Amino acid sequence: MKNKYPIGIFDSGIGGLLIAKEIQNQMPNEYFIYFGDSANMPYGNKSKNFIVNNAIKITTFLYEKKCKAIIIACNTITSNAFDIISNKFNNKILIFNVIDPIVKDKIFLSYKNIGIITTPSTAKSNFYISKIKEYYNHLNIIQISIPLLAYFIENNFNIKKIRYIINHSLFKLKSIESLILACTHYLYMKNEINNYYRGKVHLIDVQKIVVKEIKKILVKKELLSSKQCINPSIFYYTSNNNLFFKKKVVYLFGKSNFIEKYNY
Ligand code: DGL
Repeated sequence: MKNKYPIGIFDSGIGGLLIAKEIQNQMPNEYFIYFGDSANMPYGNKSKNFIVNNAIKITTFLYEKKCKAIIIACNTITSNAFDIISNKFNNKILIFNVIDPIVKDKIFLSYKNIGIITTPSTAKSNFYISKIKEYYNHLNIIQISIPLLAYFIENNFNIKKIRYIINHSLFKLKSIESLILACTHYLYMKNEINNYYRGKVHLIDVQKIVVKEIKKILVKKELLSSKQCINPSIFYYTSNNNLFFKKKVVYLFGKSNFIEKYNY
């Protein structure tokens, strides 16, 4: 039965692990194969061409691993390559992303002024703003990109340095009621950002909203795994030997199977 197959998840690095963790919370019977393209991160300062080509290769890799669905757990890849990947894999496999479930969430009916923080390549694509405007035209949206923040998070830079970058970026986002952390790496900094705003700006619960929507669709398509996997072999692939990636995986999921995959 197809519902017993794994879910493929990928990101440029550790960001998507938080989406994988939420999958474990909301769908404990599922298992997955994760790919973090750490060797090529940050995607946030790469060209659209580069992002599209790599995303196609990784999607193909996960497709060949017989995944029942693939989640692009990266805003940068979603905004630059989702449409192309969806067309290419149309009818072959279910592909999810981390932007569509957010932009249609009803929570935005209660706000007028919102902020979005992204990587430079996401901001350049204009994908996020145009999508959210399709659903909520009443919103005033300020979008800023924070160059290299994802890189510093991926490489475990000193938290003081990271906090400095966050504070010096967020001061441009005043008078907002809500903020979308539109880079999965930034989700690791939720507490820092919440402290900056002293809890007065609502931070959208990206992981919860995204995974809830994915679960809904898997149920509808009868693809949700019904039985607890007795010995789920979760595999984590990275394209370099990033020790912090491995540490994060062990911290979030316990002892794990790592495979370094340089060609994909
Ligand atoms: N995690 C990715 C995102 O959600 C971006 C990180 C990067 O720049 O590679 O946009």
